[in-house]
Amino acid sequence: MLLAFGVRLLLYRLLFLICIILRSVGQGNAGITSTFIRSEWPSVDIPLDNEIFSIPKVHNAPQQVHITQGDYDGKAIIISWVTIDEPGNSKVQYGTSKQKYDFTADGTVKNYTFSTYKSGYIHHCLVDGLEYNTKYYYKVGVGDSSREFWFQTPPNIDPDASYTFGIIGDLGQTYNSLSTLEHYMQSGGQTVLYVGDLSYADRYEYNKIGIRWDAWGRFIERSTAYQPWIWSAGNHEIEYMPNVGEVLPFKSYLHRFATPNIASHSTSPLWYAVRRASAHIVVLSSYSPFVKYTLQWSWLQEELKRVDRRKTPWLIILLHVPIYSSNSVHYMEGESMRAVFERWFVCYRVDFVFAGHVHAYERSYRISNIHYNVSSGDRYPVPDESAPVYITVGDGGNQEGLAGRFWDPQPDYSAFREASYGHSTLEIRNRTHAFYHWNRNDDGKKAETDSVTFYNQYWTSNKRRRRLKKSHCKL
Ligand SMILES: *[C@@H]1O[C@H](CO)[C@@H](O)[C@H](O)[C@H]1NC(C)=O
Ligand SMILES: *[C@@H]1O[C@H](CO)[C@@H](O)[C@H](O)[C@H]1NC(C)=O
Ligand SMILES: *[C@@H]1O[C@H](CO)[C@@H](O)[C@H](O)[C@H]1NC(C)=O
Ligand SMILES: [Fe+2]
Repeated sequence: MLLAFGVRLLLYRLLFLICIILRSVGQGNAGITSTFIRSEWPSVDIPLDNEIFSIPKVHNAPQQVHITQGDYDGKAIIISWVTIDEPGNSKVQYGTSKQKYDFTADGTVKNYTFSTYKSGYIHHCLVDGLEYNTKYYYKVGVGDSSREFWFQTPPNIDPDASYTFGIIGDLGQTYNSLSTLEHYMQSGGQTVLYVGDLSYADRYEYNKIGIRWDAWGRFIERSTAYQPWIWSAGNHEIEYMPNVGEVLPFKSYLHRFATPNIASHSTSPLWYAVRRASAHIVVLSSYSPFVKYTLQWSWLQEELKRVDRRKTPWLIILLHVPIYSSNSVHYMEGESMRAVFERWFVCYRVDFVFAGHVHAYERSYRISNIHYNVSSGDRYPVPDESAPVYITVGDGGNQEGLAGRFWDPQPDYSAFREASYGHSTLEIRNRTHAFYHWNRNDDGKKAETDSVTFYNQYWTSNKRRRRLKKSHCKL
């Protein structure tokens, strides 16, 4: 028995070696550095008096309406909004036909200060017990000031459920941000996977910080009031600003954006997981403790065990700081998390790790660097069919501009990279196929630039490899 295992291990290693040799010899591994230069809008925020940020005219009308998944499996939604003049109430009226609201849910209201800024009344309301695959209409606000929206619930959890996600990161509130948002809204995406750095309000001072958060809430409302955005936090959400008396990390973000962390047994809204259609989405926090024995580490260990690829074949990780990036900006900032989590990503056969942070686009091959153990082993990522594809989509269009300098020559692990603004879409078809596109903002038009068909990491591997995986998955 032990001998058989040893032989199998040896064979596996041999196969792996052959695989590496074939890959480094073949032409297939040559990455692409796109030299496309788009004529961008200037990297400045849109002025506050622009109609894109317009405030509803009616007294105390709800604004900054946004929704996110409210439970583990997609039968609940959290609806959030802000009223400025008075608390009003935190009720949501909803139903399945227009202007006929058979149900009511009660939410909560809170407010906060940040430096010299006083927030409006921030409402969060959990609406649960929804039916799958159903269009719901909802109303927030009181009397004449109420506003109405709608959303569509996802299909039930099913391995062959088709579903389209958008992936957006580092959006900000410039003319480029608007271009990205408008292109995404034309894409047919049903839910956004957001990879951190939201409003860039922390680039301002005193009460302008809160004012720019509010503006961003109104800016994204055209999408977020109608479909869930799955949030993860970036460095621009930390807002540790002792100079203005603010030392509570993520204060604005945590007041404004709710997440369903309790549903996945997480102790923090900054890391959690949701299942939607045929996908299991794990959100990590690059700026919360994650080394061994921390709460995030312990939670992820348990959450990965809960993943059932027979129900949700597509395993997707969202985080802010890329694990693999060959851009000179923020180079190696993801290295600490790679050292802790990469082994799990490989042994659980994660399909995608989406990140932001670097203001450019990059996609990796399936590679890993888990054989390097400081004392010995390969000191360079090697092809690994069990590894995720790492994708950086930090190119939403914020005021900091693009990260235009990639390391030269392009490392072997990098498949495609380009410093342009844009967003991605992931069209999951069934348990085996997903069509992925990175869509560049091409002089105001949307251009599908990097298109790949991905095969599921669980269902397209043969039974022998699936079994082998378990025996190698030491945690
Ligand atoms: C929240 O709103 C109440 C009622 O308007 C007000 O009295 C209180 O000072 C506000 N709290 C903060 C932290 O702004
Ligand atoms: C480090 O890697 C080398 C080569 O793969 C291996 O022989 C060695 O046992 C590893 N050491 C540890 C402490 O894991
Ligand atoms: C999954 O989708 C792909 C692409 O549309 C298709 O070619 C394939 O036959 C589908 N598989 C099943 C089992 O339906
Ligand atoms: Fe960032």
